[in-house]
Amino acid sequence: MPQVFPRSANGVSRFVLWAAGLLLLAGVVVAVAVPRSAFDNGIGQPIAQPVPFSHKHHVGQLGIDCRYCHNGVETSSSAGLPATEVCMTCHSQLFTNAAMLAPVRDSLASGEPLHWKRVNSVPDFVYFNHAIHVNKGIGCETCHGDVDDMPLTERAHSLTMGWCLNCHRDPEPNLRPPGDVFKMHWKSPKDIEQIRRSLISILDIHPENMTDCYVCHR
Ligand code: HEC
Ligand code: HEC
Ligand code: HEC
Ligand code: HEC
Ligand code: HEC
Repeated sequence: MPQVFPRSANGVSRFVLWAAGLLLLAGVVVAVAVPRSAFDNGIGQPIAQPVPFSHKHHVGQLGIDCRYCHNGVETSSSAGLPATEVCMTCHSQLFTNAAMLAPVRDSLASGEPLHWKRVNSVPDFVYFNHAIHVNKGIGCETCHGDVDDMPLTERAHSLTMGWCLNCHRDPEPNLRPPGDVFKMHWKSPKDIEQIRRSLISILDIHPENMTDCYVCHR
């Protein structure tokens, strides 16, 4: 071992010094790595909500279509969140007294919407549009993961610029027939590569312009 510390340092203090050095190194590694890690991006961390709404239950088991609750997703930039009345179409009859649903009943009575906490978001200086993606054959699953397995909704991807660009550089491998965009656990057909090649022209997709800064920063 090279002589890093003076000979006078006894075994214990040597150990302490080495441990301190290693901790310092670990600290540097963490400081460098964490800002882009899953922890910082919130990937895979369920977010507590005013009501523990479960996509696993409502989508995975009951089979309710995404558009029933996110009705802007095909026509506007934002997918939108359901109004309290949408929950109440069922919950005025089902689980009417459940404590879990008290905030939903209160919201209906007071007219004050439920304050859902955001799971996915991009900064204000980024332009994002749901309708464009959904109509051009990008599935919800591709960006949001298998939502139908989530008891509480969590973020599936980083949503960083690098993540957006990764697809914008070469969208073809992520395309699916637009009729399948709402499907979870989608299985691609055998001739998918051929389908994707033709989708590029049918859907009029132009990858050559998709990485220009003004596309997302307008
Ligand atoms: C019965 C209503 C309902 C249905 C059906 C539904 N959702 Fe949701 N969804 C919600 C509610 C309520 C929230 C807000 C609470 C939360 O984040 O879990 C939400 C939140 C989300 C979020 C996170 C929003 C954010 O803050 O970033 C995503 C993504 C999402 N839903 C995708 C889907 C997809 C994909 C489908 C169809 C496969 C779907 N949802 C079907 C009610 C619904
Ligand atoms: C199409 C009907 C329908 C709609 C719309 C609906 N629910 Fe439900 N919900 C159900 C049913 C059915 C159950 C019971 C599932 C079971 O336990 O078998 C349930 C259960 C629940 C539960 C109990 C916990 C659980 O997941 O079992 C909560 C909380 C809940 N719903 C919240 C909501 C909220 C919030 C909305 C609106 C965003 C909503 N639901 C919209 C049918 C619906
Ligand atoms: C190309 C990636 C992508 C696709 C495809 C996509 N989303 Fe999103 N979604 C996002 C991003 C990014 C955000 C955050 C937007 C923001 O902060 O303005 C988001 C936000 C949301 C939200 C929160 C409310 C809102 O409108 O911002 C919901 C709900 C949602 N998505 C549902 C869906 C559903 C349902 C589908 C499929 C029909 C879908 N998304 C398809 C990337 C995507
Ligand atoms: C999985 C693939 C995929 C991901 C991820 C993705 N996009 Fe896209 N995006 C597309 C496709 C495909 C189009 C359609 C391009 C076309 O029509 O030529 C598109 C189009 C767009 C457009 C519209 C361009 C126009 O025609 O004006 C914007 C804005 C955009 N994306 C922003 C984003 C942002 C911001 C993110 C990240 C938060 C993102 N996209 C992530 C595939 C993706
Ligand atoms: C497909 C969408 C997309 C395109 C194209 C794009 N950006 Fe971004 N950009 C984003 C998103 C999303 C963020 C916010 C998330 C992040 O910081 O990674 C961002 C963040 C940034 C930031 C802030 C970085 C920070 O750390 O806060 C700068 C600066 C930027 N972009 C410059 C550019 C320039 C210059 C170009 C063209 C060469 C470009 N962007 C093209 C989506 C895009």
